Order: sequence, then C-alpha cells, then structure tokens
Amino acid sequence: MHAKINDIQLAYTDEGNGPALILIHGFPLCRAMWQPQVAALSAAGFRVVAPDLRGFGESEAPRGRYSMDRFADDIVELMTYLGIGRAVVGGMSMGGYVLLNLLERHPRRVAGAAFLLTRCNADDAAGKARRAELAQLVRQGKRSAVEGAFAEVLFAPATPASEPQLVETVRSWMRNTSDAGLIGALEAMAARADYCDRLGEFSTPALVMGGAEDRIVPRETIAPFAAALPNSSSCIIPKAGHMANLEQPQAFNACLMDFMRLCSQPFDAPRNDAGSA
Ligand code: MLT
Repeated sequence: MHAKINDIQLAYTDEGNGPALILIHGFPLCRAMWQPQVAALSAAGFRVVAPDLRGFGESEAPRGRYSMDRFADDIVELMTYLGIGRAVVGGMSMGGYVLLNLLERHPRRVAGAAFLLTRCNADDAAGKARRAELAQLVRQGKRSAVEGAFAEVLFAPATPASEPQLVETVRSWMRNTSDAGLIGALEAMAARADYCDRLGEFSTPALVMGGAEDRIVPRETIAPFAAALPNSSSCIIPKAGHMANLEQPQAFNACLMDFMRLCSQPFDAPRNDAGSA
C-alpha cells in the first residue's frame, strides 16, 4: 500500500486489527524485514503497520536533505492518515534513532517504545567520518561499499552458514535501496542527537531488546540503556545477531508480544481514534 505523506509516496504494510504497533526498519533495509512480526502479531490481535522510510524499499526517494526529524514526521503523518492516534512504536537500529526523535518531539503519539537492537548515543567523530566516506563512495558510483560494510556484521557468526538464503535476501534489500536513500540516511544518522543523558525524561513504557551475538549493538549495552529509562524492561535474544527478528523470530516475537500486551491495556483505542501530537 502507498499513501501521499509529506509530499512523497510512502509504502507501508498494514495488517490486523487491535492496538497498533508501528515497526520502523533499520539501515539499509526495508519493511520486508518485518514479515515474521507482521504475520505473528497481526494473528495475535494487533494492528501492525510497517512503513518503508523515505528513500528505502518501495517508498519514494527524493533527493535532498534527510533527517531524523523528517523520518519521524513521516511516521506521525502516516499514523494520522491511518487514523492511529497512539501506537506502540518499535524501532530497529536506525529505526530506534527515529523512535528517540518521536519520543522527544511527538511523545503523545507513542504508547510504548520498543528499542530493538539499537542505541541511544550519537556517532563519535570517527563514526561520522565513516558515514561521510560511505556517502561519498555512493556518490562516486561505488555503492557496493555500503553492502560490504553492513552485510557481514548484521548476523550472528553462525547465521551465514546455517541460513545462506536469509543472508542473500537481506543483501538484496540493500542492493535495492536507492542512492538518495543511502546517502540521505547516512547523513541523517551522522547528524542525529545523543539521547543517553536524557532517557530519564522518557517515562513511556519501554522495552530494550538485544541480540546475544549482535556485532553492531553489543549485548553489554542493553542493560544500561534499559536502566536509564524510568519504566522499562529488557530481553536478550539468544543465538541472534543484529537481525534477531529474522534469525530468531519466535523468541523475538514472544518478547515483543509480551510488551504489546503490557502496553495495550491502557490505550486499547478504536481503530479510527486519531489524536494530535
Ligand atoms: C542499522 O542497522 O540500522 C544500522 O546498523 C544503524 C547504524 O549504522 O548506526
């Protein structure tokens, strides 16, 4: 499905009925990554919405400046378009950076915050320089550098041998991402704010989920992230890397579903209850 959101065509999946869950994908991925979660949670009585962020998947990829503000504003406009006032929002890695922005700028739209394989800190100087270098390589037509930088580290060490088809599918999503989306999101991530010292302000119910073998977001960072949030729980998915939702979908879904149930009690609103930011 597509909708005109903030002047661009945004693609999204919308399945099920019940309390809403918005799932925001990571970089350089797309909403297809959420297929096991869309299937399981929509069957369990939730409405699951998964957009392709601008520049990714089947969404339009305008040239020009991308930012966390813009990604977050697209999510809020999509919620309004779909008649969703408040939702639990799950953000995977880059999607978690968008979720932090939502909590800061649109807190009333977030009924629960699921931080999935993500972090609260901004890039350091070396990280920003690496993003700038990758963006420049894409501009020079060497976009395979992005796939090279991310494909290996996305998975637990054993996954490429045990699930080669999964690894190839994820690589194909990377290859299908537009140049504008790659460059725009790299710049947006490099410019993002640091929220680690401000997590105490976010009293929304929260979940922080990690992968035991995540090589991008080390499992040691999960407990301090959760401890800094006033109203949170955490879980670590065994035998999972950064793509825990695909590598271990059952354990991932069980943790997410528990959180959805916890959050659903107070905000179980009818489908067309659009609220304001
Ligand atoms: C992601 O999975 O979204 C990326 O690893 C995030 C990042 O590069 O910081």
